[in-house]
Amino acid sequence: MAHHSSSHDGTPSRENWGSRVGFIMAAAGSAVGLGNIWKFPYTAGESGGGAFVLIYLFFVIFIGFSVMLTEFSLGRKTGRAAVGAFKSVDKRWSFTGVIGVLSGLLIMGFYPVVGGWALAYIFKVGGGLLNEPSAIGATFDGFITNPLEPLYWMAAYLLVNLLVVAKGISGGIEKAGKVLMPMLFFILIIIAVKGLTLPGSGKGLEFLFSPDFSKVNGEVVLAALGQAFFSLSLGMGCMITYGSYLKKKENLVQNTAIVTGMDTAVALLAGIAMFPAMFAFSMEPAAGPGLVFVVVPQLFAEMTGGMIFALIFFIGLTVAALTSSVSLLEVVVAYLIDEKQLSRPKAVIAAGSVMVLLCIMASLSLGGVGPTLFDTGLFDIFDLLTDKIFLAIGGMFICIFAGWKLSKQELKQEITNDGEISFPLFNLWYGLVKYVIPVAVAIVAIGGILSGFDSGKGPIMILGISIIALLALLSKKL
Ligand code: PHE
Repeated sequence: MAHHSSSHDGTPSRENWGSRVGFIMAAAGSAVGLGNIWKFPYTAGESGGGAFVLIYLFFVIFIGFSVMLTEFSLGRKTGRAAVGAFKSVDKRWSFTGVIGVLSGLLIMGFYPVVGGWALAYIFKVGGGLLNEPSAIGATFDGFITNPLEPLYWMAAYLLVNLLVVAKGISGGIEKAGKVLMPMLFFILIIIAVKGLTLPGSGKGLEFLFSPDFSKVNGEVVLAALGQAFFSLSLGMGCMITYGSYLKKKENLVQNTAIVTGMDTAVALLAGIAMFPAMFAFSMEPAAGPGLVFVVVPQLFAEMTGGMIFALIFFIGLTVAALTSSVSLLEVVVAYLIDEKQLSRPKAVIAAGSVMVLLCIMASLSLGGVGPTLFDTGLFDIFDLLTDKIFLAIGGMFICIFAGWKLSKQELKQEITNDGEISFPLFNLWYGLVKYVIPVAVAIVAIGGILSGFDSGKGPIMILGISIIALLALLSKKL
């Protein structure tokens, strides 16, 4: 259970993580989720493969790592969640936190829909899905476009989230992460090894790892940046919130390295698990959001005892999704508790009610029901707004805030625990955060939006930018 600590620099006393491993597991649990196992493979598939993967890795190392370290530092230094962390330094910066809360809300407007699919697939696999391999693709399409069935699963999935977050920070999240994360890693290794033994699988590895830069345009680069932020849970104050529960003596640099490393390893592992099997079965790499739900059952359908592996996979996927969505919900809940003075149960109910409405609309949009904007359904709109715009721009503002509103000295003290830990790359990190990352994100975003106009996604991205501008203008009232 959490300990109350009054820290030496007078920040408010706050619940703490029960143990170091508990924190790493929870932060890695937040990072590792549908982003790695569902989104990464299909985005890589749609974005041409190797070149996308290479650009993504470049962004993880040079932007993701630095932003995560920045978020952990801001959270622990201020002892406050997404909005409070900025507000406690300068009220005009509240909007950066509010972009994060809004991102949390909108991601939770589609994430539980996919989490519900994963949950449903445990039962579908158990109920004999693999017996008819040729029908697996059609089963998935039929399932997600059905108006009602996915809603039950989404509701069940969301309910588990609400219960975990209602129990409080270390009671629920920490315990769940500790048991379930190692299990998932193990399952993925089994699947990857299975996939690699199939004849013809080599082409999958080639697709994933040999870059063809002729496939790269502004949208691919922005997709890679968005994927890095989404997968690492960055740009929306999630890691600020988790950092705010972190003890003063923890080594932030090391924690950042471990979480970034684990997240990236799982994404690559998921790619290695998916693409060789796809190529062995001559499936389309650009299969879209159905990829894992079609490839994995198909892969295991052709193997004796495959049902067990498929079952374990979807249990693992559901659990990985849960430890992530719990952190998304926590950002919104922590905001309502800290800034709006709601009790934890009330905050959970308020956030949950909005999320269930968004999810219903998002799920229905896949069957062509409900409002569209610029010919795009709500599921895709929520995804586009957050993954392509809010997270990256949010991360940019987090860096500008840290670099320009805080002094180099206070950042150094926070990161090195008042000089107890050496961080030889401090100056490099500082330069990246203060100058390079803000400029780089701005350039990638502009390039992505411009090329987004060719594919029809531009107007929604512009909408996202306008929402951010509006929040910035309203900042003092937030
Ligand atoms: N990183 C999570 C995943 O990969 C999603 C997430 C995004 C969680 C942002 C928290 C904040 O599934």
